Order: sequence, then structure tokens, then C-alpha cells
Amino acid sequence: MAANLKGRHFLKLVDFSSEEISDLLTLSAALKANKRAGVCGKALEGKNIALIFEKPSTRTRCAFVVACVDEGAHPEYLGKGDIQLGKKETVADTARVLGRYFDGIEFRGFSHETVETLAEYAGVPVWNGLTEQWHPTQILADLLTVQEAFGRLEGLSFAYVGDGRNNMANSLMVGCAKMGMDIRIVAPESLHPEAKLVRMVEAIASETGGKVTVTADVEEGVKGAHVVYTDVWASMGEEAQIADRIVTLGPYRVTVDMMEKTGRRDAIFLHCLPAFHNLETDVAREYPEIREVSDEVFEGRWSRVFDQAENRMHTIKAVMVATLGH
Ligand code: CP
Ligand code: NVA
Repeated sequence: MAANLKGRHFLKLVDFSSEEISDLLTLSAALKANKRAGVCGKALEGKNIALIFEKPSTRTRCAFVVACVDEGAHPEYLGKGDIQLGKKETVADTARVLGRYFDGIEFRGFSHETVETLAEYAGVPVWNGLTEQWHPTQILADLLTVQEAFGRLEGLSFAYVGDGRNNMANSLMVGCAKMGMDIRIVAPESLHPEAKLVRMVEAIASETGGKVTVTADVEEGVKGAHVVYTDVWASMGEEAQIADRIVTLGPYRVTVDMMEKTGRRDAIFLHCLPAFHNLETDVAREYPEIREVSDEVFEGRWSRVFDQAENRMHTIKAVMVATLGH
């Protein structure tokens, strides 16, 4: 690991250089190879890690827990309702208390300001496990999965199709631009990313040789894409908008036809998960049209979604080891 990230927070990818992201991917791949070989490290031995979750999670929570235990740390889950954060105690006060007990703090929740405040006051590394604005640990897993599939990142075309202004679209734009990729946000105009963010990402891309396109046109957006990526049409906290999104985003469902429109036989499909791809969940039974990806694609030859989900663990481990490890 060339870059020294000791003591750093991991709140959003904008705060990290291309080299630092690349180093985190290299460390992730090494930790993954070690785990496959049955070798567990002691990089986090003796560390206590707080995992604060205001929202539900399968992958992020379990990835943090397993990564901690693999490297000798003790994880403590603090769910919604378990602590006073922001209710009877300010975020700054909770941060100062937790910082006295714990060596690192993960936060998943609504406002990005909360994780920034935790980082300002805790005095220990704070890691963002998803806010409304950013989901940076997810992007590391996504980039690792793309790198495993194509052997490189620079110069690859990446089409994110769906809600173009959520945490995934925001974070993928930054992450892909930092790695010199051609990132396309393919979304209806009402869900295009903020102009200010697009300008910032264009500035990043101009330095890395990357490219940013925002378009409502699916054919234009996915043409030549190595990767087609989507996310749920309504993020956690946006449940009231499901019916509207089904109408707005229906034409953006990832289908076999869309994968074929890439014109690439080797194109892959990614999704951060959880995904709606059939009718076998409670929400899908209530809203049968809520399907951002067809079952054929999700289960088909394009799909790398479970490699991607596995990579959450290796990349989160890398973030903790790089910022806190011995
Ligand atoms: N992709 C992701 O963050 O999954 P969870 O919500 O299950 O953590
Ligand atoms: N955009 C989704 C991502 C889930 C991993 C959400 O915030 O709910």
C-alpha cells in the first residue's frame, strides 16, 4: 500500500485521490486472496469498532462485522433506537463519547451532515456506510468487481441507468471519473444529477482522461458500455415515491434488450443490491411493476452481482485496515 491513509476518515470519494483509491483496491485484492487462502490477519487486533445504523442493511453491516472479526477486532452494532444519537443527545456529544470507547466508527443513515459531524468530533476514523448523498464503500466493491472482470478500469465505459440523483449515481460518477472511466448517467430529465455535481465530476474527468455524460436516451447511454449498473428506483426513505418512480423509470428497466444495445458480448451487469427482479418479495408483491432489472438479466450471463456483494467485505476490510490497521 503506497498511500498512507492512517487516521483518515472515509466519508466520500471526493476526498481521495485516484492513487489512493487504486491503492485501496490493491489492498482489497490482497486481503481477498489471503482470505481465499485461509489466512486471516491481525491488522485490527485489539480494536473496538462501533457500527451505527439508522437504516437497515444486509451487506454493509455483515461486511463490517466479518471484516472486523477476520482481522481481530470487536464490532459493536448500534441500531436505530439503541442509542440517543440526535434524539436526546447531539451528534457531536455522542461522537465525543463513542470516540473515547471505540477505535473506529461506521455510520449509515439519512443526512450526510451527521457522518461529517461524527468525523469532526469523534477523534477516531469514521467510515460512511451510506448516507442520502454518498455510498463510498459500495463504489470500492463495484470498481474491484469491474477490475476483476476486465483487468483494468481506465478507459472502460460504465452506464448507470435509473435514479440519476441518488447516493449511488453521485458516488459512481465521482469514483468512475477518478479512475479515468467513461461514466454515463442514463436517467429521465427529472432525475438527472445536480448540475453542480456534474461540473465537479467533469473537472475530475478532465484530469484523469475520463468522461462524463448525462443523458435521458437509453440507446446513446448504453452504447459500447462495458458495464450496465442500476439501483432501486426509490431509495430507503423514499417509499412514498414508489408509485411515481414506477412510471418515470419504467423505460429504464435493465432488460436483455438493453444489455444487447451495449453492442458488447462481454458487457456485465452490476447492482449494489438489494434488487427488485421478480415478484418474490413483499414490496414487489405490493408493487408488481417495481422491477429495475429483469430476472433474465439478474440471473443471466451478464450478472456479477454476487461477486460484487462479496467484494463489499474485502473492500470494507481494506478501508478499516488502511485507516486504522497496525
Ligand atoms: N448495497 C448495500 O449497501 O446493501 P445493504 O443495504 O444490504 O447494506
Ligand atoms: N440507493 C439505495 C442504495 C442501497 C444500497 C438506497 O439508498 O436505499
